Amino acid sequence: ILLIVGGNDTTRNSMSGYAYGLQQFPDEREKLEANPSMIPNAVQELIRWQTPLAHMRRTALQDHDLFGAPIKAGDKVVMWYISANRDESVFENADKLIVDRENARRHLSFGYGIHRCVGARLAELQIRILLEEMAKRRLRPNVIGEPERVRGCFVHGYRSMDVELTTY
Ligand code: HEM
Repeated sequence: ILLIVGGNDTTRNSMSGYAYGLQQFPDEREKLEANPSMIPNAVQELIRWQTPLAHMRRTALQDHDLFGAPIKAGDKVVMWYISANRDESVFENADKLIVDRENARRHLSFGYGIHRCVGARLAELQIRILLEEMAKRRLRPNVIGEPERVRGCFVHGYRSMDVELTTY
């Protein structure tokens, strides 16, 4: 079940994020269209910018002091990946999708530690292939109208998004 759910709501929303994100930042879209060798890095940046899963939750097994914030054994701790991915002390101009961002790979969209996403490589491959095949055909997804978003604080994605494809 994890393999199906884990691979469904996430990569799909990164792909929609690719259409929506580049629409928001036409300068970045132009950069990527002019230079497809940026695709592998753009994939990282898209996953950072979209952050398809906003958080996961853990239960602390022992007392811990996290940079001055006390955590007691049994406490439930929420790890907001989406917040980490907007941390301005790590990602300058974090709200912007920057296809050649130098440290895009530092995103935490796949989590961290022993439960880090087991499908991360597959997800990256899927998105990379989509971008490469679009580039080969010089196809651009244009978002027409505001997308409808998923309501909830876990899956950070889109319920529906109308796009039309044009060539460049
Ligand atoms: C951009 C796409 C994806 C994102 C952002 C994503 C994100 C995540 C996150 C945040 C976790 C939890 C990490 C943790 O608890 O520390 C996770 C776990 C997992 N993901 Fe993904 N995922 C993606 C794609 C996929 C794909 C394509 C698959 C499989 C086909 C997959 C399968 C799983 C599984 C099985 C786990 C559980 C791993 C464990 O608990 O040990 N994910 N993913």
